Amino acid sequence: MERNTFILPDQDQAKRRTRTRPESVYDLFTLTENARGIGSGKYYYLRTYGCQANVRDGETISGMLEMMGFQKSEKPEEADVLVFNTCAVRRAAEERVLGEIGSLKGLKRKHPEKVICICGCMAQEEAVVDEILKGYPQVDIIFGTHNIYHFPELLTGRLSDGERRVEVFSEEGKVIENLPVQRSQTCKGFVNIMYGCNKFCTYCIVPYTRGKERSRRKEDIIAEIRELKAKNFKEVILLGQNVNAYGKDLGEEDGFTELLKASAETGIDRIRFYTSHPRDYSPTTIDAMKEYPNIMPSLHLPVQSGSDEVLRRMARGYTADSYKKLYDEMKSKIPGITFSTDIIVGFPGETDEQFRKTLDLADYCKFDLAYTFVYSPRSGTPAAKMPDDTPAEVKKERLQILNEKIGRYANANNQQYMGKVLQVLCEGSSKKKADVYSGYSAENKLVNFTGPAGLKDQIVNVEITGIHSYSLDGKVVL
Ligand code: SAH
Ligand code: SF4
Ligand code: F3S
Repeated sequence: MERNTFILPDQDQAKRRTRTRPESVYDLFTLTENARGIGSGKYYYLRTYGCQANVRDGETISGMLEMMGFQKSEKPEEADVLVFNTCAVRRAAEERVLGEIGSLKGLKRKHPEKVICICGCMAQEEAVVDEILKGYPQVDIIFGTHNIYHFPELLTGRLSDGERRVEVFSEEGKVIENLPVQRSQTCKGFVNIMYGCNKFCTYCIVPYTRGKERSRRKEDIIAEIRELKAKNFKEVILLGQNVNAYGKDLGEEDGFTELLKASAETGIDRIRFYTSHPRDYSPTTIDAMKEYPNIMPSLHLPVQSGSDEVLRRMARGYTADSYKKLYDEMKSKIPGITFSTDIIVGFPGETDEQFRKTLDLADYCKFDLAYTFVYSPRSGTPAAKMPDDTPAEVKKERLQILNEKIGRYANANNQQYMGKVLQVLCEGSSKKKADVYSGYSAENKLVNFTGPAGLKDQIVNVEITGIHSYSLDGKVVL
Protein backbone atom coordinates (compact mmCIF):
# COMPACT_ATOMS: atom_id res chain seq x y z
CA MET A 1 0.00 0.00 0.00
CA GLU A 2 1.45 3.38 -0.99
CA ARG A 3 1.02 6.56 0.96
CA ASN A 4 -1.53 7.86 -1.55
CA THR A 5 -3.90 5.03 -0.68
CA PHE A 6 -4.00 6.15 2.94
CA ILE A 7 -7.38 7.41 4.12
CA LEU A 8 -6.48 10.45 6.22
CA PRO A 9 -8.67 12.45 8.60
CA ASP A 10 -10.22 15.70 7.39
CA GLN A 11 -11.44 18.07 10.10
CA ASP A 12 -13.70 20.12 7.79
CA GLN A 13 -15.55 17.01 6.79
CA ALA A 14 -15.74 15.83 10.40
CA LYS A 15 -17.43 19.11 11.34
CA ARG A 16 -20.31 18.79 8.89
CA ARG A 17 -23.75 17.93 10.19
CA THR A 18 -26.01 18.00 7.13
CA ARG A 19 -29.55 16.72 7.09
CA THR A 20 -28.93 15.21 3.67
CA ARG A 21 -26.71 12.56 5.16
CA PRO A 22 -28.40 9.20 5.37
CA GLU A 23 -29.93 8.35 8.72
CA SER A 24 -28.25 5.72 10.87
CA VAL A 25 -27.72 2.46 9.08
CA TYR A 26 -27.24 -0.70 11.09
CA ASP A 27 -25.13 -3.66 10.14
CA LEU A 28 -23.61 -6.75 11.71
CA PHE A 29 -19.95 -7.53 12.31
CA THR A 30 -18.35 -10.58 10.73
CA LEU A 31 -14.75 -11.71 11.01
CA THR A 32 -13.26 -12.49 7.60
CA GLU A 33 -12.05 -16.04 7.07
CA ASN A 34 -8.40 -15.06 6.63
CA ALA A 35 -8.38 -13.27 10.01
CA ARG A 36 -9.49 -16.36 11.92
CA GLY A 37 -6.71 -17.98 13.92
CA ILE A 38 -4.10 -15.52 12.62
CA GLY A 39 -3.20 -14.60 16.19
CA SER A 40 -2.90 -18.14 17.46
CA GLY A 41 0.09 -18.42 19.82
CA LYS A 42 0.60 -14.64 19.70
CA TYR A 43 0.04 -11.87 22.24
CA TYR A 44 -1.48 -8.40 22.19
CA TYR A 45 -0.99 -5.42 24.48
CA LEU A 46 -3.73 -2.80 24.69
CA ARG A 47 -3.45 0.58 26.37
CA THR A 48 -6.59 2.68 26.61
CA TYR A 49 -6.69 6.38 27.53
CA GLY A 50 -9.64 8.74 27.98
CA CYS A 51 -13.30 8.31 28.75
CA GLN A 52 -15.56 5.31 29.24
CA ALA A 53 -16.50 5.37 25.55
CA ASN A 54 -12.88 4.60 24.84
CA VAL A 55 -12.77 1.92 27.52
CA ARG A 56 -15.78 0.27 25.87
CA ASP A 57 -14.08 0.55 22.45
CA GLY A 58 -11.01 -1.09 24.00
CA GLU A 59 -13.20 -3.99 25.12
CA THR A 60 -14.37 -4.40 21.52
CA ILE A 61 -10.78 -4.29 20.23
CA SER A 62 -9.82 -6.98 22.77
CA GLY A 63 -12.86 -9.00 21.73
CA MET A 64 -11.85 -8.88 18.06
CA LEU A 65 -8.20 -9.71 18.77
CA GLU A 66 -9.19 -12.67 20.93
CA MET A 67 -11.56 -13.84 18.19
CA MET A 68 -8.51 -13.83 15.91
CA GLY A 69 -6.67 -16.03 18.40
CA PHE A 70 -4.46 -13.45 20.15
CA GLN A 71 -4.01 -13.61 23.92
CA LYS A 72 -3.76 -10.59 26.18
CA SER A 73 -0.45 -9.55 27.71
CA GLU A 74 0.24 -6.78 30.19
CA LYS A 75 3.78 -6.30 28.88
CA PRO A 76 4.46 -4.34 25.67
CA GLU A 77 7.82 -6.05 25.16
CA GLU A 78 6.17 -9.47 25.18
CA ALA A 79 3.39 -8.58 22.72
CA ASP A 80 3.28 -9.17 18.97
CA VAL A 81 0.60 -6.52 18.44
CA LEU A 82 0.52 -3.29 20.46
CA VAL A 83 -2.58 -1.12 20.36
CA PHE A 84 -2.78 2.44 21.73
CA ASN A 85 -6.41 3.50 22.05
CA THR A 86 -5.99 7.25 22.51
CA CYS A 87 -7.78 10.34 23.81
CA ALA A 88 -7.59 13.81 22.25
CA VAL A 89 -9.52 15.87 24.75
CA ARG A 90 -6.49 17.74 26.13
CA ARG A 91 -2.99 18.24 24.79
CA ALA A 92 -1.36 16.76 27.92
CA ALA A 93 -3.09 13.41 27.23
CA GLU A 94 -1.82 13.47 23.66
CA GLU A 95 1.71 14.22 24.73
CA ARG A 96 1.69 11.26 27.09
CA VAL A 97 0.69 8.94 24.25
CA LEU A 98 3.25 10.39 21.84
CA GLY A 99 5.93 10.03 24.53
CA GLU A 100 5.01 6.42 25.10
CA ILE A 101 4.99 5.56 21.42
CA GLY A 102 8.25 7.44 20.97
CA SER A 103 9.84 5.23 23.60
CA LEU A 104 8.95 2.11 21.56
CA LYS A 105 11.39 3.03 18.80
CA GLY A 106 14.12 0.80 20.24
CA LEU A 107 11.78 -2.16 20.73
CA LYS A 108 10.58 -1.88 17.14
CA ARG A 109 14.17 -1.66 15.84
CA LYS A 110 15.02 -4.91 17.62
CA HIS A 111 11.74 -6.59 16.66
CA PRO A 112 10.51 -5.14 13.36
CA GLU A 113 7.87 -7.90 13.17
CA LYS A 114 5.95 -6.33 16.07
CA VAL A 115 2.90 -4.36 14.89
CA ILE A 116 2.23 -1.01 16.57
CA CYS A 117 -1.27 0.42 16.13
CA ILE A 118 -2.83 3.76 17.04
CA CYS A 119 -6.57 4.25 17.22
CA GLY A 120 -9.09 6.29 19.17
CA CYS A 121 -9.67 10.01 19.12
CA MET A 122 -6.10 11.14 18.36
CA ALA A 123 -6.25 9.10 15.14
CA GLN A 124 -9.17 11.30 14.04
CA GLU A 125 -7.05 14.46 14.16
CA GLU A 126 -5.47 15.70 10.98
CA ALA A 127 -2.48 17.33 12.67
CA VAL A 128 -1.74 14.34 14.89
CA VAL A 129 -1.83 11.81 12.08
CA ASP A 130 0.48 14.07 10.11
CA GLU A 131 2.84 14.25 13.10
CA ILE A 132 2.84 10.45 13.47
CA LEU A 133 3.39 9.79 9.77
CA LYS A 134 6.35 12.17 9.75
CA GLY A 135 7.97 11.46 13.08
CA TYR A 136 6.97 7.97 14.19
CA PRO A 137 7.98 5.39 11.58
CA GLN A 138 7.51 2.66 14.19
CA VAL A 139 3.71 3.01 13.89
CA ASP A 140 2.27 0.44 11.48
CA ILE A 141 -1.48 0.94 11.59
CA ILE A 142 -3.63 4.00 12.27
CA PHE A 143 -7.39 3.56 12.33
CA GLY A 144 -10.15 5.83 13.59
CA THR A 145 -13.20 5.69 15.83
CA HIS A 146 -15.66 5.09 12.96
CA ASN A 147 -14.10 1.89 11.61
CA ILE A 148 -13.02 -0.06 14.67
CA TYR A 149 -14.80 -3.08 13.20
CA HIS A 150 -12.34 -2.96 10.28
CA PHE A 151 -9.26 -3.44 12.49
CA PRO A 152 -9.04 -7.25 11.94
CA GLU A 153 -8.77 -6.68 8.18
CA LEU A 154 -6.17 -3.94 8.54
CA LEU A 155 -4.12 -6.11 10.86
CA THR A 156 -4.40 -9.19 8.66
CA GLY A 157 -3.30 -7.11 5.67
CA ARG A 158 -0.34 -5.65 7.57
CA LEU A 159 0.73 -9.10 8.75
CA SER A 160 0.63 -10.47 5.22
CA ASP A 161 2.41 -7.73 3.25
CA GLY A 162 4.27 -5.73 5.91
CA GLU A 163 2.92 -2.40 4.59
CA ARG A 164 1.83 0.50 6.76
CA ARG A 165 -1.90 1.20 6.85
CA VAL A 166 -3.85 4.37 7.62
CA GLU A 167 -7.63 4.26 7.49
CA VAL A 168 -9.46 7.10 9.22
CA PHE A 169 -12.95 8.06 8.11
CA SER A 170 -14.10 11.60 8.80
CA GLU A 171 -17.71 10.80 8.19
CA GLU A 172 -19.35 8.32 10.51
CA GLY A 173 -20.62 5.20 8.80
CA LYS A 174 -22.89 2.42 9.92
CA VAL A 175 -23.74 1.53 13.49
CA ILE A 176 -22.27 -1.95 13.77
CA GLU A 177 -23.94 -4.45 16.07
CA ASN A 178 -22.80 -7.86 17.16
CA LEU A 179 -19.20 -6.83 17.77
CA PRO A 180 -17.29 -9.20 20.03
CA VAL A 181 -16.44 -7.85 23.48
CA GLN A 182 -13.92 -8.83 26.10
CA ARG A 183 -15.22 -7.03 29.19
CA SER A 184 -12.76 -5.66 31.70
CA GLN A 185 -14.99 -6.41 34.68
CA THR A 186 -17.32 -9.22 35.68
CA CYS A 187 -19.86 -7.28 37.74
CA LYS A 188 -20.41 -4.04 35.86
CA GLY A 189 -20.62 -3.54 32.13
CA PHE A 190 -20.56 -0.54 29.82
CA VAL A 191 -23.34 -0.38 27.27
CA ASN A 192 -23.12 2.16 24.45
CA ILE A 193 -26.49 3.74 23.79
CA MET A 194 -25.34 6.32 21.27
CA TYR A 195 -22.24 7.45 19.47
CA GLY A 196 -21.03 10.95 18.60
CA CYS A 197 -21.99 14.43 19.75
CA ASN A 198 -23.79 17.34 18.06
CA LYS A 199 -23.26 19.88 20.81
CA PHE A 200 -20.05 21.51 19.60
CA CYS A 201 -19.13 23.17 22.90
CA THR A 202 -16.55 25.64 21.62
CA TYR A 203 -13.59 24.12 23.50
CA CYS A 204 -14.27 20.49 22.68
CA ILE A 205 -12.76 18.17 20.08
CA VAL A 206 -15.16 15.26 20.68
CA PRO A 207 -17.79 16.18 18.02
CA TYR A 208 -14.96 16.12 15.45
CA THR A 209 -13.42 12.85 16.63
CA ARG A 210 -16.67 10.95 17.26
CA GLY A 211 -18.97 12.27 14.53
CA LYS A 212 -22.65 13.08 14.62
CA GLU A 213 -25.07 11.65 17.15
CA ARG A 214 -26.23 8.17 16.25
CA SER A 215 -28.39 6.15 18.59
CA ARG A 216 -28.34 2.40 18.81
CA ARG A 217 -31.73 0.74 18.50
CA LYS A 218 -33.51 0.31 21.81
CA GLU A 219 -33.98 -3.43 21.26
CA ASP A 220 -30.23 -3.93 20.71
CA ILE A 221 -29.42 -2.04 23.91
CA ILE A 222 -31.96 -3.93 25.98
CA ALA A 223 -30.70 -7.23 24.55
CA GLU A 224 -27.17 -6.33 25.70
CA ILE A 225 -28.43 -5.48 29.19
CA ARG A 226 -30.37 -8.75 29.40
CA GLU A 227 -27.30 -10.66 28.31
CA LEU A 228 -25.22 -8.99 31.03
CA LYS A 229 -27.87 -9.77 33.61
CA ALA A 230 -27.95 -13.40 32.49
CA LYS A 231 -24.17 -13.48 33.01
CA ASN A 232 -24.72 -12.28 36.58
CA PHE A 233 -23.57 -8.70 36.03
CA LYS A 234 -25.03 -6.44 38.72
CA GLU A 235 -24.61 -3.05 37.08
CA VAL A 236 -24.84 -1.48 33.64
CA ILE A 237 -23.52 1.92 32.71
CA LEU A 238 -25.31 3.45 29.75
CA LEU A 239 -22.82 5.43 27.69
CA GLY A 240 -23.02 8.39 25.37
CA GLN A 241 -21.39 11.83 25.15
CA ASN A 242 -24.80 13.35 25.72
CA VAL A 243 -27.13 10.56 26.81
CA ASN A 244 -30.08 12.89 27.23
CA ALA A 245 -30.20 13.28 23.45
CA TYR A 246 -30.65 9.53 22.97
CA GLY A 247 -33.25 8.73 20.31
CA LYS A 248 -33.52 12.26 18.87
CA ASP A 249 -31.93 11.05 15.62
CA LEU A 250 -34.51 8.26 15.53
CA GLY A 251 -37.29 10.82 15.78
CA GLU A 252 -38.11 10.04 19.41
CA GLU A 253 -39.01 12.97 21.62
CA ASP A 254 -38.32 11.45 25.02
CA GLY A 255 -36.12 8.58 23.94
CA PHE A 256 -33.69 8.61 26.86
CA THR A 257 -36.33 8.37 29.55
CA GLU A 258 -38.10 5.59 27.66
CA LEU A 259 -34.83 3.73 27.32
CA LEU A 260 -33.97 4.26 30.97
CA LYS A 261 -37.32 2.82 32.05
CA ALA A 262 -37.00 -0.17 29.72
CA SER A 263 -33.48 -0.75 31.09
CA ALA A 264 -34.79 -0.61 34.66
CA GLU A 265 -37.53 -3.07 33.79
CA THR A 266 -34.98 -5.71 32.80
CA GLY A 267 -34.55 -6.07 36.57
CA ILE A 268 -30.77 -5.59 36.53
CA ASP A 269 -29.69 -4.49 40.02
CA ARG A 270 -28.06 -1.19 39.13
CA ILE A 271 -28.20 1.32 36.31
CA ARG A 272 -26.04 4.40 35.86
CA PHE A 273 -25.53 6.65 32.85
CA TYR A 274 -22.79 8.96 31.56
CA THR A 275 -22.71 11.74 30.47
CA SER A 276 -25.65 14.05 30.91
CA HIS A 277 -25.94 17.53 29.46
CA PRO A 278 -27.86 20.04 31.59
CA ARG A 279 -29.47 21.58 28.52
CA ASP A 280 -31.16 18.37 27.38
CA TYR A 281 -32.14 17.07 30.80
CA SER A 282 -35.78 16.09 30.70
CA PRO A 283 -38.05 16.31 33.78
CA THR A 284 -39.32 12.83 32.89
CA THR A 285 -35.80 11.48 33.49
CA ILE A 286 -35.92 12.83 37.04
CA ASP A 287 -39.28 11.12 37.55
CA ALA A 288 -37.88 7.84 36.23
CA MET A 289 -34.92 8.08 38.62
CA LYS A 290 -37.38 8.57 41.45
CA GLU A 291 -39.68 5.77 40.33
CA TYR A 292 -37.18 2.95 39.76
CA PRO A 293 -35.03 1.93 42.70
CA ASN A 294 -32.49 0.26 40.39
CA ILE A 295 -31.62 3.60 38.75
CA MET A 296 -28.84 4.72 41.10
CA PRO A 297 -29.17 8.00 43.04
CA SER A 298 -26.07 9.70 41.71
CA LEU A 299 -25.62 12.00 38.77
CA HIS A 300 -22.65 13.24 36.80
CA LEU A 301 -23.76 16.59 35.44
CA PRO A 302 -20.90 18.62 33.94
CA VAL A 303 -21.31 22.35 34.57
CA GLN A 304 -17.96 23.58 33.14
CA SER A 305 -18.25 27.09 34.60
CA GLY A 306 -20.34 29.16 37.01
CA SER A 307 -20.12 32.32 34.91
CA ASP A 308 -22.94 33.00 32.45
CA GLU A 309 -20.58 34.92 30.22
CA VAL A 310 -18.11 32.02 30.04
CA LEU A 311 -20.94 29.50 29.57
CA ARG A 312 -22.16 31.59 26.66
CA ARG A 313 -18.74 31.62 25.06
CA MET A 314 -18.52 27.88 25.62
CA ALA A 315 -21.91 27.54 23.82
CA ARG A 316 -23.26 25.38 26.63
CA GLY A 317 -26.81 26.66 26.24
CA TYR A 318 -27.68 27.18 29.93
CA THR A 319 -26.97 29.65 32.71
CA ALA A 320 -25.63 29.13 36.22
CA ASP A 321 -29.14 29.76 37.53
CA SER A 322 -30.78 27.19 35.28
CA TYR A 323 -28.12 24.66 36.33
CA LYS A 324 -28.82 25.41 39.98
CA LYS A 325 -32.55 25.05 39.40
CA LEU A 326 -32.05 21.60 37.89
CA TYR A 327 -29.72 20.71 40.75
CA ASP A 328 -32.29 21.84 43.35
CA GLU A 329 -35.05 19.90 41.68
CA MET A 330 -33.03 16.71 41.65
CA LYS A 331 -31.89 17.15 45.25
CA SER A 332 -35.46 17.67 46.42
CA LYS A 333 -37.02 14.87 44.39
CA ILE A 334 -34.39 12.15 44.82
CA PRO A 335 -33.43 11.64 48.44
CA GLY A 336 -29.74 11.13 49.08
CA ILE A 337 -28.68 11.83 45.48
CA THR A 338 -25.00 12.66 45.04
CA PHE A 339 -23.60 14.99 42.39
CA SER A 340 -20.39 15.03 40.43
CA THR A 341 -19.36 17.45 37.71
CA ASP A 342 -16.67 18.60 35.27
CA ILE A 343 -15.23 22.11 35.46
CA ILE A 344 -12.82 23.93 33.16
CA VAL A 345 -10.78 26.83 34.54
CA GLY A 346 -8.88 29.33 32.44
CA PHE A 347 -11.23 29.27 29.44
CA PRO A 348 -10.03 31.97 26.99
CA GLY A 349 -10.69 35.39 28.47
CA GLU A 350 -11.94 34.08 31.84
CA THR A 351 -11.52 36.96 34.30
CA ASP A 352 -10.95 36.70 38.05
CA GLU A 353 -14.53 37.78 38.53
CA GLN A 354 -15.79 35.07 36.20
CA PHE A 355 -13.67 32.47 37.95
CA ARG A 356 -15.17 33.61 41.27
CA LYS A 357 -18.61 32.76 39.85
CA THR A 358 -17.39 29.19 39.43
CA LEU A 359 -16.31 29.18 43.07
CA ASP A 360 -19.75 30.53 44.03
CA LEU A 361 -21.40 27.72 42.10
CA ALA A 362 -19.18 25.17 43.83
CA ASP A 363 -20.28 26.69 47.16
CA TYR A 364 -23.90 26.31 46.12
CA CYS A 365 -23.76 22.77 44.73
CA LYS A 366 -21.24 21.30 47.19
CA PHE A 367 -20.30 18.58 44.71
CA ASP A 368 -19.29 15.13 45.93
CA LEU A 369 -16.67 14.97 43.21
CA ALA A 370 -15.48 17.23 40.41
CA TYR A 371 -13.13 16.53 37.55
CA THR A 372 -11.36 19.84 37.11
CA PHE A 373 -9.21 20.84 34.16
CA VAL A 374 -7.19 23.76 32.93
CA TYR A 375 -8.46 24.71 29.48
CA SER A 376 -6.40 23.19 26.70
CA PRO A 377 -6.70 24.68 23.19
CA ARG A 378 -7.77 22.10 20.56
CA SER A 379 -6.89 22.96 17.02
CA GLY A 380 -9.88 23.58 14.74
CA THR A 381 -12.30 24.37 17.60
CA PRO A 382 -13.76 27.91 17.90
CA ALA A 383 -12.30 28.53 21.38
CA ALA A 384 -8.77 27.95 20.10
CA LYS A 385 -9.13 31.21 18.14
CA MET A 386 -10.47 33.26 21.06
CA PRO A 387 -8.07 35.74 22.67
CA ASP A 388 -6.55 34.29 25.82
CA ASP A 389 -4.32 36.55 27.88
CA THR A 390 -4.47 34.79 31.25
CA PRO A 391 -0.98 33.58 32.20
CA ALA A 392 -0.56 29.83 32.71
CA GLU A 393 0.46 30.34 36.38
CA VAL A 394 -2.80 32.16 37.09
CA LYS A 395 -4.78 29.30 35.55
CA LYS A 396 -2.87 26.78 37.63
CA GLU A 397 -3.53 28.79 40.74
CA ARG A 398 -7.26 28.91 39.93
CA LEU A 399 -7.27 25.14 39.56
CA GLN A 400 -5.64 24.76 42.99
CA ILE A 401 -8.11 27.11 44.66
CA LEU A 402 -11.02 25.26 43.08
CA ASN A 403 -9.69 21.80 43.94
CA GLU A 404 -9.16 22.81 47.51
CA LYS A 405 -12.77 23.98 47.78
CA ILE A 406 -14.15 20.88 46.05
CA GLY A 407 -12.14 18.63 48.37
CA ARG A 408 -13.49 20.37 51.45
CA TYR A 409 -17.12 19.85 50.38
CA ALA A 410 -16.45 16.26 49.35
CA ASN A 411 -15.09 15.56 52.82
CA ALA A 412 -17.92 17.39 54.58
CA ASN A 413 -20.53 15.52 52.50
CA ASN A 414 -18.99 12.19 53.44
CA GLN A 415 -19.32 12.82 57.21
CA GLN A 416 -23.04 11.94 57.03
CA TYR A 417 -22.18 8.31 56.17
CA MET A 418 -20.26 7.60 59.38
CA GLY A 419 -21.83 4.60 61.15
CA LYS A 420 -24.39 4.12 58.36
CA VAL A 421 -24.79 0.95 56.31
CA LEU A 422 -24.35 1.37 52.54
CA GLN A 423 -24.96 -1.15 49.80
CA VAL A 424 -21.72 -1.74 47.97
CA LEU A 425 -21.08 -3.68 44.78
CA CYS A 426 -17.85 -5.52 45.58
CA GLU A 427 -15.45 -5.31 42.66
CA GLY A 428 -12.67 -7.32 44.31
CA SER A 429 -9.59 -6.53 46.37
CA SER A 430 -8.59 -2.91 46.74
CA LYS A 431 -5.59 -1.70 44.76
CA LYS A 432 -3.49 -1.05 47.85
CA LYS A 433 -4.23 -4.05 50.08
CA ALA A 434 -5.15 -7.56 48.97
CA ASP A 435 -7.16 -8.29 52.13
CA VAL A 436 -9.34 -5.21 51.70
CA TYR A 437 -12.21 -5.17 49.21
CA SER A 438 -13.31 -2.19 47.23
CA GLY A 439 -16.44 -1.21 45.41
CA TYR A 440 -18.98 1.54 44.90
CA SER A 441 -22.08 2.27 46.95
CA ALA A 442 -25.42 3.09 45.35
CA GLU A 443 -24.49 6.79 45.82
CA ASN A 444 -21.32 6.10 43.83
CA LYS A 445 -19.01 6.43 46.84
CA LEU A 446 -15.81 4.42 46.65
CA VAL A 447 -15.74 2.16 49.71
CA ASN A 448 -12.76 0.11 50.94
CA PHE A 449 -13.92 -2.56 53.35
CA THR A 450 -13.11 -5.78 55.14
CA GLY A 451 -15.23 -8.91 55.15
CA PRO A 452 -15.21 -12.69 54.72
CA ALA A 453 -13.80 -14.34 51.59
CA GLY A 454 -15.83 -14.71 48.40
CA LEU A 455 -17.67 -11.39 48.16
CA LYS A 456 -16.43 -10.38 44.69
CA ASP A 457 -19.23 -9.37 42.31
CA GLN A 458 -21.86 -9.31 45.05
CA ILE A 459 -23.82 -6.39 46.48
CA VAL A 460 -23.10 -6.36 50.22
CA ASN A 461 -24.04 -4.25 53.24
CA VAL A 462 -21.11 -2.29 54.54
CA GLU A 463 -21.03 -0.29 57.76
CA ILE A 464 -18.99 2.86 57.36
CA THR A 465 -16.20 3.23 59.90
CA GLY A 466 -13.93 5.87 58.35
CA ILE A 467 -14.26 8.96 56.19
CA HIS A 468 -11.92 10.47 53.59
CA SER A 469 -12.65 13.11 50.95
CA TYR A 470 -12.89 10.68 48.05
CA SER A 471 -13.41 7.30 49.71
CA LEU A 472 -14.97 5.65 52.75
CA ASP A 473 -13.76 2.76 54.92
CA GLY A 474 -16.02 0.09 56.29
CA LYS A 475 -16.73 -3.49 57.30
CA VAL A 476 -19.26 -5.93 55.98
CA VAL A 477 -22.32 -6.49 58.13
CA LEU A 478 -24.23 -9.67 57.47
N1 SAH B 1 -19.47 14.46 26.73
C1 SAH B 1 -19.06 14.68 28.02
C2 SAH B 1 -17.57 14.58 28.24
C3 SAH B 1 -16.68 15.31 27.35
S1 SAH B 1 -14.98 15.33 27.68
C4 SAH B 1 -19.66 15.98 28.46
O1 SAH B 1 -20.19 16.71 27.69
O2 SAH B 1 -19.61 16.25 29.62
C5 SAH B 1 -14.89 15.38 29.44
C6 SAH B 1 -14.57 16.70 30.02
O3 SAH B 1 -13.33 17.17 29.56
C7 SAH B 1 -15.53 17.80 29.68
O4 SAH B 1 -16.69 17.77 30.45
C8 SAH B 1 -14.71 19.03 29.95
O5 SAH B 1 -14.82 19.45 31.28
C9 SAH B 1 -13.30 18.56 29.68
N2 SAH B 1 -12.76 19.14 28.45
C10 SAH B 1 -13.24 18.98 27.19
N3 SAH B 1 -12.50 19.70 26.32
C11 SAH B 1 -11.54 20.34 27.03
C12 SAH B 1 -10.49 21.24 26.72
N4 SAH B 1 -10.28 21.64 25.48
N5 SAH B 1 -9.70 21.68 27.73
C13 SAH B 1 -9.91 21.29 29.01
N6 SAH B 1 -10.88 20.45 29.36
C14 SAH B 1 -11.70 19.98 28.40
FE1 SF4 C 1 -17.78 17.91 24.13
FE2 SF4 C 1 -19.84 19.42 24.74
FE3 SF4 C 1 -20.20 17.19 23.29
FE4 SF4 C 1 -19.55 17.00 25.84
S1 SF4 C 1 -21.45 17.88 25.02
S2 SF4 C 1 -18.65 15.86 24.16
S3 SF4 C 1 -18.21 18.76 26.17
S4 SF4 C 1 -19.09 19.03 22.66
FE1 F3S D 1 -11.09 11.47 24.92
FE2 F3S D 1 -12.34 10.77 22.75
FE3 F3S D 1 -13.37 10.20 25.09
S1 F3S D 1 -11.28 12.66 23.07
S2 F3S D 1 -12.67 11.87 26.37
S3 F3S D 1 -11.49 9.41 24.29
S4 F3S D 1 -14.48 10.74 23.26
